Amino acid sequence: MPSLSEKKEEVLKGLLTQEKSLLPKYFYDERGSKLFDQITNLPEYYLTRTEIQLYQELLPSLVGTIDLNKLCVVEFGAGSVRKIRLILEHLPVEAYVPIDISSDHLNIAAAELSREYPQVDIFALSADYTKPSELPERFDEFGKLGFFPGSSIGNFEKKEAESFLIGTNKTLGTGCRFLIGVDAKKDREILEAAYNDSSGITAAFNLNMLRHLNATIGSDFDLSGFQHEAHYNVELGCVQMHLRSVRDQIVNVGDQEIAFAKQELIHTENSFKYAPEEFAQLANNAGYEVENLWQDEKKLFSIFLLRSLN
Ligand code: AVI
Repeated sequence: MPSLSEKKEEVLKGLLTQEKSLLPKYFYDERGSKLFDQITNLPEYYLTRTEIQLYQELLPSLVGTIDLNKLCVVEFGAGSVRKIRLILEHLPVEAYVPIDISSDHLNIAAAELSREYPQVDIFALSADYTKPSELPERFDEFGKLGFFPGSSIGNFEKKEAESFLIGTNKTLGTGCRFLIGVDAKKDREILEAAYNDSSGITAAFNLNMLRHLNATIGSDFDLSGFQHEAHYNVELGCVQMHLRSVRDQIVNVGDQEIAFAKQELIHTENSFKYAPEEFAQLANNAGYEVENLWQDEKKLFSIFLLRSLN
């Protein structure tokens, strides 16, 4: 966890450049996580329900495809450990290692899961899941299945996504499999509606970042001075979220004054979308091959089963 002064430094680094930006990790305080949960239920946000539907269809077919003897599922960025229940309902998982940075939240969620699935050996690993981790020795003999649902891979820059996948390959070891949800490229209208929902939840989620920073680093962003925007950048293949300053204004971050011109943008998030062959290439660069790919009828969302080439 960065200290308060490190966090302030990090924020200032993003705001004292020509093109201002704030890191998407600042979305997720308690309120932001709740807003994100609401996003996943929005009619326009097709990602979550499409992915869940796909897991329900594909998981039974994994029985017979992968070796289920002594299966250990390792989830990267497990958060509230919700989607793992789909796997636990369909596969005879013996061990589960959720990895996440926020230990309190993770331990509570893991303890609750333990009560529901007492037969599963659960080890909550509190670590930065974007870096390789050491798994407990007792799972050495287990077959490993990595799990990264939600298309969170889309929030990494391409190079970061590749090094994250290389890291998962290291964590999981020789012969591992990896099940990953990836949002697909599609028409601009569908994408922009998903990130500009009519009930304004995504706007509240984006603006909440400023509230979170005010509460933690003592900045004085006036939330009414910024507006949510999300556009699909076709060249980059990603939805980009910004906060637009509605007037000329000064924001104080510690003793630093940050000037915003009317219409100036703060970039807050990239959400990359991948055509199946693009993602297969990325996975290949990271030492995986695609063993299977599932898409819904409208090809909105993809789930890949990767196999380590190491
Ligand atoms: C967490 N992540 C996959 C979401 C996405 O779709 O990129 C975050 C999000 N941002 C706005 N809406 C949802």
